[in-house]
Amino acid sequence: MICIGIEGTAEKTGVGIVDSEGNILASAGKPLIPEKGGIHPREAAEHHAATIVPLINDSLNQSGLSLDDLDLVAFSRGPGLGPALRTVATAARSLSLMLKIPIVGVNHCIGHVEIGKLTTGAVDPVTLYVSGGNTQIIAYEYGRYRVFGETLDVAMGNCLDQFSRSVGLGHPGGPKVEKMAKNYSKYIELPYTVKGMDLSFSGLLTAAIRKYESGESIEDVCYSLQETAFSMLVEVTERAIAHANKREVMLCGGVAANSRLREMLATMSEEHYCEFYMPPVKYCGDNGAMIAWMGQLMHKNGLVKDIKDTGVIQKYR
Ligand code: KG4
Repeated sequence: MICIGIEGTAEKTGVGIVDSEGNILASAGKPLIPEKGGIHPREAAEHHAATIVPLINDSLNQSGLSLDDLDLVAFSRGPGLGPALRTVATAARSLSLMLKIPIVGVNHCIGHVEIGKLTTGAVDPVTLYVSGGNTQIIAYEYGRYRVFGETLDVAMGNCLDQFSRSVGLGHPGGPKVEKMAKNYSKYIELPYTVKGMDLSFSGLLTAAIRKYESGESIEDVCYSLQETAFSMLVEVTERAIAHANKREVMLCGGVAANSRLREMLATMSEEHYCEFYMPPVKYCGDNGAMIAWMGQLMHKNGLVKDIKDTGVIQKYR
């Protein structure tokens, strides 16, 4: 059973091919790098439309397979940018109709968790999923994935990206803020906004920009922004471990590339006698392999989208 997965919830197009044993046979991706400013949903959709077919070909070449070898098409059905999601769904439906193979729409966030489990060996983790568009603390409880905490406004990665653009460091902001933060000399107090199990980054973002505009050094503001925001993330993850009574912690999403966040989360995990996992960076960010693997899991569990049906996931077998 061979599944091709198409990802495109935000600015990155990804195509992956995975077999039913979880062997990743191919994973190809292409991000949209905006000339200036952030990601525009229409531009993301245009980028996907231009890159999906070449990436399908790249994936087939990588895996040594042909279109006729494919048994299932999986696509990211959300959450994400509307125009981007429509483009991906249209491509997936076309492929399914053309090859006369079943199709399944998968949840992008759960895709991150499942590829993380596949590539790290984690079995039942509390997952901190932090990317440009999402910030969630997720765990599996009583037969369902549940969101234990999430951002109430902007995502962690988006906060770093907006800060970086506002102070002239450019996009994407995460790696630039991380680099600057390494040369800090002092911590500057910023608003710490954990609300119950949820998080808010917009006030912190505004305060960090104001501190920079008031003359604080860019290195100190970057350091303080990271320390404050990451402490908030670690606090909620820590509480989720206790609520869900788990012994594993996993970090994923594009922001997982940050070494300071990894260090803080690994320390907290160790203090709670939890195993800490992080997938290879290649599978931390958005990728097509995670969508293909989710397709395999949903197929194994008898859940595949009927091509004629527009809304509900139906039993396939
Ligand atoms: O998951 P991802 O690849 O895609 C989207 O969410 O679209 O995540 C991208 C995010 C961006 O916000 C980027 O600034 C952030 O991941 N990022 C980082 C680092 N590298 C990428 N954030 C913090 N530190 C990094 N080293």
